[in-house]
Amino acid sequence: MAKVTFVTPDQESITVEADSGSVMELAVNNNIQGIDGDCGGVCSCATCHVHVAAGDVTKVGEASEIEQDMLELDDNANEFSRLCCQIEVTEAIDGVVLTVAG
Ligand code: FES
Repeated sequence: MAKVTFVTPDQESITVEADSGSVMELAVNNNIQGIDGDCGGVCSCATCHVHVAAGDVTKVGEASEIEQDMLELDDNANEFSRLCCQIEVTEAIDGVVLTVAG
């Protein structure tokens, strides 16, 4: 079980939890504002863009090359950017804070 906190564009902080699946699915299942997951999680839409809290980057890991290519097209991208459909829910990410990039 991993708990994940999302900070929405309205600055609302929402903590949800799951055992498996992607972080995008977790967000969509919990109606997190700003995470749409339009492509279904195949890394081709960037509607699941989040900024990982600085202290959580090592827990979440780095973006793959394909993910980085998608992020380069997004004006809101920065060094903390991830597409959360590419982050798997595991115990390793328990407690992370992800800000919806919008
Ligand atoms: S859901 Fe489309 S890139 Fe993540």
